[in-house]
Amino acid sequence: MPLTRPDRERIEMLVAALETEYGPATDSARVEIVRAPGRVNLIGDHTDYNEGFVLPAAIELDTWIAFRRREDGLVRVASRHSREPGSFWIDDLTAEHEAGGDTRQPRENDGGAAAGAAATATVRRSSHWSDYVAGAAWSLREAALPVRGFDGVVDSTIPIGSGLSSSAALEVASALALLGAGRVLAAPSLAALAQRAEVDYVGVNCGIMDQFASAAGREGRALLLDCRSLDTRYVALPFGVRVVVCDTGARRELRSSVYNTRRAECARAVALLAERMPGLCSLRDLDAAWLARHRALLPDNVARRAEHVVSENARVVTTASALETGDLDELGRLFAESHVSLRDLYEVSSPALDTMVEVARAIPGVVAARMTGAGFGGCTVNLVLADAVPALKAAVSREYDRRTGLRGRVYPVAIVDGAGPLAMI
Ligand code: GLA
Repeated sequence: MPLTRPDRERIEMLVAALETEYGPATDSARVEIVRAPGRVNLIGDHTDYNEGFVLPAAIELDTWIAFRRREDGLVRVASRHSREPGSFWIDDLTAEHEAGGDTRQPRENDGGAAAGAAATATVRRSSHWSDYVAGAAWSLREAALPVRGFDGVVDSTIPIGSGLSSSAALEVASALALLGAGRVLAAPSLAALAQRAEVDYVGVNCGIMDQFASAAGREGRALLLDCRSLDTRYVALPFGVRVVVCDTGARRELRSSVYNTRRAECARAVALLAERMPGLCSLRDLDAAWLARHRALLPDNVARRAEHVVSENARVVTTASALETGDLDELGRLFAESHVSLRDLYEVSSPALDTMVEVARAIPGVVAARMTGAGFGGCTVNLVLADAVPALKAAVSREYDRRTGLRGRVYPVAIVDGAGPLAMI
């Protein structure tokens, strides 16, 4: 990746921060830098943990770690976004469920910078941003990969808590740093290790989409991912269409608890329907007609969750084709259906998300708009003709802010390559 001038400034700033935090470099300790991008999901929400299809893209908002490797297993890590550095010994790390009972608490997927001690072995952890780094170290160690400690500084341009996968990016970047920037791991393995960090160490029961997009993204392309086989197909965007993320600025209080409830409802649907389809192990294997015929076997709310997942899977595959053929009307229709399905069947939208989508759709040149990610606040994703981006920005700051009392933000985002080493200095 050619370095731009802002990239070089960011490197200088990180190297300076590293020296301030941990002292000047010795001869043997050169500075390495790794980066991992955030992601936006074009379509296919709440399908990944049902072994279905998703269509995310890695975006230019990203997380960098500048670090110097250590000879021992100590990790010391500071962040430009938190006053509280973290530190831990890799050998001491134990997942909470290993340390006695499953005490996992649902919490914000993107991880805030809450105060607390660094994650260590048997001490009941309080939440700290460096848990994502420790989780990556734990996961790599569990996979018997050679990991060494480092002194590092994190810098991220991904807004925390907005649903753009700042936590996945931190996990993926941390895994790269722990392996050493020179060591290459195939993107699917990197993604699976980072996901394990989040599920088993941090305790957020997410699917694989976010980490996979961060690890395996490709410049200018969305990534059609089959979450069962992990087969991928890269899909180019129609010429002249930009991806624009609109952040509602809304807090996401219910997010993690509802996320877990929805997962349980999907599992319940599978268990009940398996009585009629022996061997059924995920909603991925159902088609809409079969589900409609057997709907009466399910409580109404569970049936609606299943209907969303089944229809959303089909929409993902159709969207990939519509992107390839440049069928903008079809893209608009598919995004609209996805939003309604997430709002009415899966019930994970919010008034702020609905308003953001409504405001965007009223702008000529906005091809498609929908909520994206887990829901309950966070962001919408929009496909926008390049020359309509200024009108969308203006409408959000005028209309959306007035109607909701919140402060919306608009990010036209370039689609970039997945995670990797950036530079060695
Ligand atoms: C979060 C999770 C993902 C996925 C989305 C919803 O981002 O981390 O695994 O389930 O929600 O599509």
